[in-house]
Amino acid sequence: MNDSRLIVALDFSSKLEAMMFVDRIEPALCKLKVGKQLFSYCGPDIVEKLIAKGFDVFLDLKFHDIPNTVHQACKAAVNMGVWMVNVHALGGQEMMNAARSAVPSIGNKHKLIAVTVLTSTTDNDLKKIGINITAEDMVYKLAGAAKESGLDGVVCSAQEAVGLRRELGEEFCLVTPGIRPANTETNDQKRIQTPFDAIKSGSDYLVVGRPVTQAEDPLASLNKIVDEINSARI
Ligand code: C5P
Repeated sequence: MNDSRLIVALDFSSKLEAMMFVDRIEPALCKLKVGKQLFSYCGPDIVEKLIAKGFDVFLDLKFHDIPNTVHQACKAAVNMGVWMVNVHALGGQEMMNAARSAVPSIGNKHKLIAVTVLTSTTDNDLKKIGINITAEDMVYKLAGAAKESGLDGVVCSAQEAVGLRRELGEEFCLVTPGIRPANTETNDQKRIQTPFDAIKSGSDYLVVGRPVTQAEDPLASLNKIVDEINSARI
């Protein structure tokens, strides 16, 4: 496994588009995330292809179902050989325990993490669905539950990383989407931070999609973000 802290979200709608991008990069540069978009178009085949090329793959399908179903889905992810897989913490602790029992923690070959509150969600969005606590408080609650279930970490916003690191310890893995370099389009993301600030806040892995994949020159954008991450790690 390489020590890159960047995970590029391969949010493409075909194998051709995804591989046109992947063929221009090396596994040492970044890890790759296959989410609902690419997986729904291409299935496990694309995951296996990326792993065969030497990339660490994060399968971001955010499993959220009854415990037995999530257990079986996690087992399938492990069989595909993914480096990281996730469930949705809102599924509760029994579901997270079932996921944990499907993903061996020994050997640290696979990381199992839980999504807390999507980085596109605000306090107001939560209020509208009857949740009357802040997104930040909700993240803390769900991250605590994930840790109690023995998960390796959570997906959260880098804005919550400092506090989570303090509460949940150095070993707990913090994966942060909602990353936007200064002066770039925020799209639908709301709880955002720059690559530099995210590293300084204690994020372990930064997930970046559109700022790279939709850029005029994806490789140049990718290299710029890698440089920004490296400058924060000095
Ligand atoms: O294009 P952008 O950088 O906003 O992409 C972020 C990626 O991270 C998307 O693939 C999205 O599905 C994923 N993600 C997220 N927020 C979460 C979990 C995953 O944005 N909480």
